[in-house]
Amino acid sequence: MPIISTYCKKGGVGKTTLIGYLAHYLANQGNTVLVLSADDQNSIFKIFGVEKFIYERNDNYFEYLFTGQVDPKDIVCEARINMYLIKTLNTDRLSLTLTLERAQERRLRAIIDDFKDRFDYVLIDFPPSSSRLTEILLDLSDKIMVVVGLDTLGLDGYINTIQYFVDVELEINNISHVIPTGYHPIKIAPNEALKKLKEQVKIYTPNAILTPPISDKSVVKNLQSEGVSVFDDYQMPSAFHQKNRDAIKKELTSVFSSLGL
Ligand SMILES: Nc1ncnc2c1ncn2[C@@H]1O[C@H](COP(=O)(O)OP(=O)(O)OP(=O)(O)O)[C@@H](O)[C@H]1O
Ligand SMILES: [Mg+2]
Repeated sequence: MPIISTYCKKGGVGKTTLIGYLAHYLANQGNTVLVLSADDQNSIFKIFGVEKFIYERNDNYFEYLFTGQVDPKDIVCEARINMYLIKTLNTDRLSLTLTLERAQERRLRAIIDDFKDRFDYVLIDFPPSSSRLTEILLDLSDKIMVVVGLDTLGLDGYINTIQYFVDVELEINNISHVIPTGYHPIKIAPNEALKKLKEQVKIYTPNAILTPPISDKSVVKNLQSEGVSVFDDYQMPSAFHQKNRDAIKKELTSVFSSLGL
C-alpha cells in the first residue's frame, strides 16, 4: 500500500499537523495507518497527546528494527484506533550509518516494505532538514505532499525544496500535491503569496495538484496543546470554539478526500 509523505525544507509550516491529521482521517475510515516519525523531535506524538510514549521506554525506537531483534508490533504506539506511531532516536547517526554501510540501506528498504505489507497506509513525517535517511525515505514515497507556508519565507521553502530534489536527483514527479498553509481570506499577504505560488507550481511542479489552502486557525494550536486532534470526537468548551473546530475539520476533510488515496 502507498507511502505518503509531507515534506518542505522550511520548518513550522504544518507538515506534522497535516500528516498526523491525514493519518487520523484515514484511520477513522477503518484503514490501519502507520506514521513513521523521520523527525527525531517526534512532535507527531505531542499532537495526539501521547508524548509520554517517547520517554517512558528507550528500547522501542525505529532504529531497533535494524537489529532484527524486535518486531514492528513491539515498537509502535497505538495513538488512536487503527493509528500507530513509530519514533526515531537519532536520525543523524542513522544517516551516517546509511551513508557508510550499503547493507543498512538495503535493510531500511526491507523494513519499509514490511510496513507496507502490514498497514493499509504508511505515512512519513519529515523534519525540514535533509539527510541520507530523508533522501532514501523520500525516494521510497509514492506521493509527496509539499507543504508551503503562505508568506515570503514559505515561498522560499518551496523553491529550496525543488532545488533539493534536483540536487539529490529525487523524482520531482513524485511530488503529487502542493498544500498551502497559513491562509486567511481577507489578509493581503497570504493571498499575494498564494498567487505567486500558483505561478511557481505551474513552472516547477506542473504535474502536482495545488490543493485549496488550509486556513490559519488558532483552534488548531489550542487543541494540539491539549493533545486533542481535530478528528477526535471532542466537545469544545463553547459554541464559538466548536464552530472554528468544525470549520477547520471540514476544510481538511475536503482536501484529504481530494487527494485520491
Ligand atoms: N491550520 C493551522 N492553523 C493554525 N496553526 C496551525 C495550523 N496547522 C499547524 N499549526 C501550528 O503551527 C505550528 C507548526 O506546525 P507543525 O509542527 O505541524 O509544522 P512542521 O512543518 O511539522 O514543523 P517542523 O518543521 O518543526 O517539523 C504548530 O504550533 C501547530 O500547532
Ligand atoms: Mg514537523
